[in-house]
Amino acid sequence: MVKHDVKDIGLAGQGKLRIEWAEMEMPVLRSIKEQFSKGKPLKGMRMAACLHVTTETANLMETLKAGGAEVALCASNPLSTQDDVAASLVKNSDIPVFAIKGEDNDTYYKHIMDLLSFAPHLTMDDGADVVSVLHKERQDLLSNVIAGTEETTTGVIRLRAMAEKGVLRYPIIAVNDALTKHLFDNRYGTGQSTMDGILRATNRLIAGAVFVVCGYGWCGRGVAMRARGMGARVVVTEINPLKALEATMDGYDVMPVMDAAKIGNIFVTVTGNINVISEKCFGVMNDGAIVCNSGHFNAEIELKALTEMAVGRREIRPFVEEFTLPNKRRIYVLGEGRLINLASAEGHPSSVMDMSFANQALCSAYAVTKHEGLKNTVYSVPEEIDREIAKLKLKSMGIKIDKLTKAQSDYLKSWEMGT
Ligand code: ADE
Repeated sequence: MVKHDVKDIGLAGQGKLRIEWAEMEMPVLRSIKEQFSKGKPLKGMRMAACLHVTTETANLMETLKAGGAEVALCASNPLSTQDDVAASLVKNSDIPVFAIKGEDNDTYYKHIMDLLSFAPHLTMDDGADVVSVLHKERQDLLSNVIAGTEETTTGVIRLRAMAEKGVLRYPIIAVNDALTKHLFDNRYGTGQSTMDGILRATNRLIAGAVFVVCGYGWCGRGVAMRARGMGARVVVTEINPLKALEATMDGYDVMPVMDAAKIGNIFVTVTGNINVISEKCFGVMNDGAIVCNSGHFNAEIELKALTEMAVGRREIRPFVEEFTLPNKRRIYVLGEGRLINLASAEGHPSSVMDMSFANQALCSAYAVTKHEGLKNTVYSVPEEIDREIAKLKLKSMGIKIDKLTKAQSDYLKSWEMGT
């Protein structure tokens, strides 16, 4: 068997069935897989992927393999791995996987090092941990790497910071910036999967609850929209005046987080920043407040402060930890403050990951053909790729659209015509 570190290889059968179930909802990726099987655009490439190990990621791995790549995979979060999927990739697809749900931080980073021992030509990140570890601890491998891709907002922010400081040593394509990625995955994916994670963990009624969404980026917009759809009274907190204005005109109550802390029943952070729900907030929260995070890192909730304040702490149900404060109020933290949609649920549904991972696959092939002309910086996804994915998705949904007439096309190019 290929090298691996997974929880239980005996789970492979169950994983295989779940991977098939996801594949049914990933028609765009399936068509790219067919195309890749014929053209082999990734032939001879070793690819190191650090992604959430889910059924959708498994389908991406199979697609890259069909394209001729040798792929290896580790987790991009200690709590997001689906152990049956990891087992199936090893047993049924001969893909080296290093990922165990609930692994500690040391194991998480050891798995990244295991992944890097494959000396990749291409990296695929979700949060930029592979790029970061490569640049900090395995600089000897950097000369092999021709390019990389990045899946998420947080990763793109880190990589742009590296590029600005002039320390990034190879080009990266920011998959997150594709319209067919963030308008759908971040909004509808995070919207649905976050509610799914909260419901599976708590089984609480959303209708009538004061539901506080911290951050009104694409993920926050999605979460707020779905919470409202279920009858919550939604409050948004922001630091950006434009987004705060947008949230207001979208019909939400907007206020500082300290004010929201006093009235909220359920809190979700989706900001990409640290200590958004801080010690001060915990001090004023209602008894029974539920706090969770759907941003990439587990730094948005100041858990260390809560741990220090608490006089009691216990797990009351899976993924729900109760902290009792000296004022006797109880605060419930879901999924250790890690991505709740992947910790207690299964992440975004396959149909939306179809487009995100179509971008990953096509951008990898693009990087192979174009890397010589690219600089060591962060690139947007080429518009042709974005449009192609949108077209394929519409086709798979049986939706037809109009074409510009010749007169309309000429009109758009003219400046002389007025009323
Ligand atoms: N990120 C969010 N949801 C995901 C999923 N289902 N698979 C991989 N990455 C994800």
